[in-house]
Amino acid sequence: MSAAGDRAARFLDLESAPFTSPGSRILVLRADGGLTVRLAEYERRLDECVLVRTLRVYAADGRIAPVSGVHPDRIEFAEAGVTLTFDGPAGLSLGGDARWSVELEVPGLADAGLDAGTWRPELPSAAEVSWVAAGADDLVVRGDTVRLSFAGAGLRFGIGAAGAGAFSHPAALAASASVWGDWFARCPAVRDDLADMTAFCWWVLGANIVSLPGRGLRAVVPSKIGYVGLWQWDAYFIAAGLRHGDPELAREQLELAFAFPTPDGQLPDVVHDEGILASSDDLPPGDRDNLRRAGSAIADPAAPIPLTKPPLAAWALRRLEGFVDDPAWFDDAWETVARSQEWWFAHSDLDGDGMPEYGHPYSSGLDDSPVFDAELPVASPDLAAYLIVQDELLASRASSVGEEAAASRYAARADRTLSLLERMWDDTGGYFRSSGAGTPVAAETAVSLLPLLTGRLPERLVARILNALDDPERFATLWAVPTVARHDPAFSDERMWRGPVWVNVNALLAEGLAASGHPDRARALVEQTLRLVQHGGGPHEYFNPLTGQKARTATTAFGWSAALFVDLAVQASADSPA
Ligand code: GLC
Repeated sequence: MSAAGDRAARFLDLESAPFTSPGSRILVLRADGGLTVRLAEYERRLDECVLVRTLRVYAADGRIAPVSGVHPDRIEFAEAGVTLTFDGPAGLSLGGDARWSVELEVPGLADAGLDAGTWRPELPSAAEVSWVAAGADDLVVRGDTVRLSFAGAGLRFGIGAAGAGAFSHPAALAASASVWGDWFARCPAVRDDLADMTAFCWWVLGANIVSLPGRGLRAVVPSKIGYVGLWQWDAYFIAAGLRHGDPELAREQLELAFAFPTPDGQLPDVVHDEGILASSDDLPPGDRDNLRRAGSAIADPAAPIPLTKPPLAAWALRRLEGFVDDPAWFDDAWETVARSQEWWFAHSDLDGDGMPEYGHPYSSGLDDSPVFDAELPVASPDLAAYLIVQDELLASRASSVGEEAAASRYAARADRTLSLLERMWDDTGGYFRSSGAGTPVAAETAVSLLPLLTGRLPERLVARILNALDDPERFATLWAVPTVARHDPAFSDERMWRGPVWVNVNALLAEGLAASGHPDRARALVEQTLRLVQHGGGPHEYFNPLTGQKARTATTAFGWSAALFVDLAVQASADSPA
């Protein structure tokens, strides 16, 4: 394995970082003195997606051989001389060269002979698993448990056809080493002090690749644990990191994100295995039930609510310029982005005052933020800032292709939105306030800081936002920037979007500081964000602002945290090379 692969291997603990392979749904994790094999499925909990409940390897003397090493391409059981690796994205191969045995506990074991067998997990992506063995000389089946003993050689099992036919463990080992070798060859070079975490984050981006059926494209999902699909704004941030090593894969993320606009231009919240999530009608049944129990009108099928994500599509597209050379693709993509921007003004300005609102918390990306404790729709300074930035990017794109009239239209709308945004400023509180159904919301949250992104706020307001960022009672927590001000009654150090630090919010704020004339502060926030991910032990979904550790309910190996770590590390390395 390459140097970057070895650096990444230090983080592969089979708990926060499962053993997996680019393009595979299969995850191998630690369990009960051995391993467990799960499948990543859209909107299903991992414990409902069991391929092998437990897998234990035994040495010749009959004792359990513990995992002795984890590498991106293989798991080692040194005491048994056995390795486990992928055999293509849908199969796993176990092999050794002395005497060893393996015990598999599998739900739905259907049929097992000495050389082959099948079982039926009955999951959406795995109706049947089959296995073939070579060199097995003993087989014991007890209920759902099968124990196979080998003199050398080994066992391969896989989903559908991936389990059947001849196999070679050494060939599988070589192929896996080459898959990861190719991936790590693309890992961007960064400052020495950032190299270990960058390698791990690069591993996360490769590990999070799945193929969505029928799409012919690779999606880098937010997490194979919990979020198996392509989320609209996650794709933007993920593309921003991927571009440094794999611009083509970065482009594929936006291609998928932009492939399914509604007829009126709205981009879907999620693209997943079974279709898209673009309205409350498409919500998985579990989500709809929760909303119904909470008495929400959102569950009313007669009044579906559009679901999307914040208008940062142009922000993402701009990041691929200079990395991807495909003018025809850019033409189409800019067109899709332009139509999505019109959608916000034509269909999401729900009170008709010229300033679009969020019709549903999901569309903000900040689902649980206290700004949504108010009545919907919610007008919010972050949305205003994104729309201003997007109109300005559309204006500059339009003038670069000679469409001056369109450019002026976008620029004029950006000016109008900016003056509406300025009216959201609360001079007494010293922050931009959201409002729900026309009533100002008291909560002071990170959305109040995001207007910095426009780079066009009056000096006086910028200075007051800097005060808020420096105030320990507000946003200067030990690990900043919290998503809710510390003194706000809604602040929680652990609850999603109600206090914890998110890497995307920090990255946007750093950009806003630079755009607003404070490049030194921007650099300091970038460094602080890089330190947070290092201190917290990985690109988790969100971090406790008081301890800098992963919040309890946050998922691990999270796509945009990894991608933005890479993006910020590349940026920081250019600013101050080692
Ligand atoms: C959570 C976040 C949202 C994100 C999604 C997928 O719902 O609140 O912003 O897009 O997860 O990562």
